[in-house]
This record gives sequence, C-alpha cells and structure tokens, in this order.
Amino acid sequence: MMDWTDRHCRYFHRLLSQRALLYTEMVTAPALVRGQAMHLLDHSPVEHPVALQLGGSDPAELAEAARFGCEAGYDEINLNVGCPSDRVQSGAFGAVLMKDPGLVAECVSAMRSGSSAEVTVKCRIGVDDQEPNVVLPQFLARVSSAGCKRFIIHARKAWLKGLSPKENRDVPPLDYDLVARMRQEFPDLHISINGGITTLEQAEEFLSAGFDGVMVGRAAYHNPADILAQADRRIFGAGEDADPFEVAHLMMTYVEEHIAQGGRLHQVARHMLGLFAGRPGARLWRRHISEAGSRADAGPEVIGEALDMVQSASRAAA
Ligand SMILES: Cc1cc2nc3c(=O)[nH]c(=O)nc-3n(C[C@H](O)[C@H](O)[C@H](O)COP(=O)(O)O)c2cc1C
Repeated sequence: MMDWTDRHCRYFHRLLSQRALLYTEMVTAPALVRGQAMHLLDHSPVEHPVALQLGGSDPAELAEAARFGCEAGYDEINLNVGCPSDRVQSGAFGAVLMKDPGLVAECVSAMRSGSSAEVTVKCRIGVDDQEPNVVLPQFLARVSSAGCKRFIIHARKAWLKGLSPKENRDVPPLDYDLVARMRQEFPDLHISINGGITTLEQAEEFLSAGFDGVMVGRAAYHNPADILAQADRRIFGAGEDADPFEVAHLMMTYVEEHIAQGGRLHQVARHMLGLFAGRPGARLWRRHISEAGSRADAGPEVIGEALDMVQSASRAAA
C-alpha cells in the first residue's frame, strides 16, 4: 500500500506474523528501468515471504523490472491492475488495464520470462460501466492462459471517473459472491479475496468457504495486534500470538539502528500507531508517539515512554 507498507512497516509486520505474505508498496516499472531507482527494491532479509508489486503496462519494461525484483530476492512479483489513481491512469496502468486483458496477458508473459519468482496479478472485478459478471471471467481466462495462476481480487469495481482513489476503496459496492463464483469456475487458479475484510473471523469464513487466500489491507495496518499478531495461530495453525509489548521492544532496537544510519524515529514509529488499538492506553500511545516522536532528536526512548503509559493504563483497567 502506497506510503504505508514501506520497508520499516514490513519489518514491524513481520515481527507480528512469521507467516503472512507481505507486499511492498507499488513500484513503477519506469522508476526502476528508466529512473534506475534501485533503492525502491531495498528490503530486509527478515521480511520474507515478501512480494514486490509492480505498476506498468509496457511488457518489455515490466520484464526488466521483474528481473530486477527477482534478483533483489523477492519471493513473488505482483502486477497492479487495481489502482485507480489519476497518476496511474495517465500512465495507462493500474485498474484501467481491466479493459485490456490481452495487454495484461502480454505483460504477465514478459514478466515471467524475466523472473523465476512467481508472477501474480491483483485486480478489480471491473471498471466503470463494465459488466463484472462478463469481464472478470474473461479477464481471468485470458491472463491465466499467459501463465498467471494466482490472483488477488479486490471485490469491487474501480470507477475511474469521478471518484478519488480513497473513495474507490469504499464507494463501489463489494461483490464477494462474484469472486466466490470465480473460485468455482476456475478451480485450477489460486484466488485470494480482498476488500473490506476487517477481522480474522471474516478471513476464516472466506477460507472455510474455499478461498485460497485472504488479503487484508487497512485493518491489518490500523489494527495489527488483532490481525497480524494472531494470524499465525488462527490462519496458519502454527506458532503463538505475538505479544505487542515484546514487538514494541524489538522495534526499539530496530529504531536505534535506523537512527544510527541517519534515519528518524518518525519514519518507523508512524507505522506503529495502531499497535494497541482497542486496548487500554491506545490513545496515550498514539499521542505520545505522534507528538514526542516527531521531534528531530527523538529516539527509541519515546517508544519506551509510550509503552510505560500503556502498561500503566492496562494495570488501571485490570
Ligand atoms: C493508503 C493505501 C494505499 C494503497 N496502495 C495500494 C497499492 O500500492 N497497490 C495496491 O494493489 N493496492 C493498494 N491499496 C489498496 C489495498 O491494497 C486494498 O486493495 C484496499 O484497501 C481494499 O482492501 P482493505 O479493505 O482490506 O483495505 C492501497 C490502499 C490504501 C488504504
């Protein structure tokens, strides 16, 4: 997720779940190939399994970008066919590609030739006045024939005119049933469902109903202790729940290293604001990290102070 799932966020999320597959922000193929912005591929070895999401629509450029991603060690290369932002539309990629499954197939085929890592596609159910019942199966059939066997489907249309990217994540109605029908119609594909899933109960229900995977975006970011910290046990049947206090302590060490390399606390801690969401002291935590954490000289001690506040609040609530 743009501006959210950067490498600091992914490091933090990996401490919460050893198993969940993490995704990078979208990196555009032109930025890598023409801009030589190789720093966009930086990640830590602890992040695995981690997928690189690419944006683009030029097959040769995407092949090159996929090769870079594969050489950088990503476990999966994902093509973005869901992002509705203006910037992306002007470059003719993202959700607008739902209108051109042939081009997406060419892109996938080229990316597969450039990368030994699996190439996957994240898409919508359609755009604008397309009829999802018709276009989604055609899209899956065409793109899978180019060798993509794994799709993550955001179960709503993108309306390319008139809605902001943010509205496009909430306003077009969700159609989980259609995605469930795709699961039936394409038994050989691995289909993950995405969009509006806010609890692990919902995720468990989708998996019981036969989905191969569930992608959780905003809820995992805003409420990581209820989603990621419990995912290994509840979804993957392995491991114990991560303890948010322990994770915060581990992040203090990470922050210390980040600052020693010239970074700022805020760049890391901004992703941790939701760690105690719904728990005693959540507000104190958020406020202290936001306020004290934005000072130029703020260090890991700010996290320690905020943790003390949460601990006192938990004791008072017990
Ligand atoms: C801040 C933000 C940035 C996002 N950036 C991307 C992106 O780079 N690539 C992408 O495929 N989806 C992106 N999305 C969409 C999410 O991946 C997801 O499809 C959407 O939020 C619906 O899932 P959710 O209800 O679980 O959040 C972004 C969402 C948000 C909130």
